[in-house]
Amino acid sequence: MSKICTLITGASSGIGQKIAIQLSKEKNIIISGRVFEKLNETLSLCSTENEVISWVFDLENILNLRDSLENLLKENDILVDSIVHCAGNMKVMHMRNMDYKSSLQLFNINFFSITEIIALLLKKKINHSQLKNIVFISAILGEFGAPGHHLYSASKAALDGLMRSLAVELAPEIRVNSVLPGGVKTPMSEKALNDTIILEKALKEYPLGIGDTEDIANMVEFLLSDKAKWITGQQFIVDGGRTINLSHK
Ligand SMILES: NC(=O)c1ccc[n+]([C@@H]2O[C@H](COP(=O)([O-])OP(=O)(O)OC[C@H]3O[C@@H](n4cnc5c(N)ncnc54)[C@H](OP(=O)(O)O)[C@@H]3O)[C@@H](O)[C@H]2O)c1
Repeated sequence: MSKICTLITGASSGIGQKIAIQLSKEKNIIISGRVFEKLNETLSLCSTENEVISWVFDLENILNLRDSLENLLKENDILVDSIVHCAGNMKVMHMRNMDYKSSLQLFNINFFSITEIIALLLKKKINHSQLKNIVFISAILGEFGAPGHHLYSASKAALDGLMRSLAVELAPEIRVNSVLPGGVKTPMSEKALNDTIILEKALKEYPLGIGDTEDIANMVEFLLSDKAKWITGQQFIVDGGRTINLSHK
């Protein structure tokens, strides 16, 4: 009998790695990232109670994505019942420096990769109608603005738009939701948070301080569970109060 798994993109680092570690205690998982060694590190931190399968793939390579994932499913005799799309790339630049090629690269990783994955996993011949749950890791920057973040913001807003329409299109069999983190300590945010001026400013802006990866993983775990069985099409901001803070300390 085929093994049923949760697919986690961006599982080789930061938030995705934490999600993999937590979910591996209760589910078989597929962990995805570009670098074999980094995925092996995630694997070494996961529970041994369930199966952990690595999918080494660069999501920028969008035209080969379907073949690669289909082969992985066949070779390992697995089906996917839930997806957490956590892989993400952030480019910060002035609008005058934007170019189409790097915009497309970012959109391929943050947005088009997940449309390809979902389209493939909805095919009955390939995934036998097993898909039940999808969670996108979006960002508060998909809802709000900051200088230089236009491309990243647009890619996350696109994810949330996709999430809402899919929630309606795929109900009642499949639930689809987004988690919108604020600042969380990970390799992606490390450089900014290591800057004492940025850190001091952030500490004033965040009523509950900067987040940990487990703050996001806990929300994902909830959304994938039956406790969220009547929740679909929603954005969940997990940001320590950053976006509701109007005070200027
Ligand atoms: N940290 C924050 O403050 C924050 C706030 C809001 C939203 N988020 C979102 O949370 C998600 C995780 O971010 P993070 O902070 O955990 O960042 P991170 O530690 O840099 O992890 C990013 C993950 O995305 C994967 N990835 C990047 N480019 C890829 C590509 N071309 N192909 C395949 N995988 C690729 C990376 O895999 P490799 O090992 O291959 O590099 C890595 O696993 C992202 O979607 C980010 O936008 C983060």
